[in-house]
Amino acid sequence: MNKGRVLALSVALAMGLSSTAALAAGDAKNGAKVFKKRCFACHTIKKGGKNKVGPNLFAIYGNKPGLAKGYKYSPSYKQAAGKGLVWNDDAIAEYIKDPRKFIRKALGDAKGKSKMTYKLKKAAERDDVIAYLKSQK
Ligand code: HEC
Repeated sequence: MNKGRVLALSVALAMGLSSTAALAAGDAKNGAKVFKKRCFACHTIKKGGKNKVGPNLFAIYGNKPGLAKGYKYSPSYKQAAGKGLVWNDDAIAEYIKDPRKFIRKALGDAKGKSKMTYKLKKAAERDDVIAYLKSQK
């Protein structure tokens, strides 16, 4: 391999690594603590866990909104699922920053409803709790 190709390869590698790092920045172990402190009052996350004020969140990551059995969601969540919304990193991050705003934006409907209004303000806590949600599947 000539020098030019080695350089191009290492640049590509570095870029690949840094974008992966940006996505996987969260620390699931700390996320478990964040979940206990900030989410557990309203959500269980164990498989088959009960619905509280909010739905059970087991295996939420990578799935559509509104799937917890026996939970009565706001219609907006089912509508968002119909529009193709999936709980990936970006969606969850925006959602827990401001759930009502996110749902309204996802639906393109200024009257969209969300019973969850709790906002997780700290970006680092959002990243960590997302890593934790991702691990619970
Ligand atoms: C004060 C109660 C409350 C707190 C605190 C809360 N939530 Fe919720 N959450 C809800 C409710 C209620 C819903 C269902 C909203 C609806 O149907 O309108 C919900 C829905 C969700 C959903 C969508 C579930 C699905 O099946 O599509 C996710 C994801 C979620 N919450 C994550 C979190 C995370 C992460 C935290 C902690 C940072 C948290 N919530 C804190 C009440 C809460």
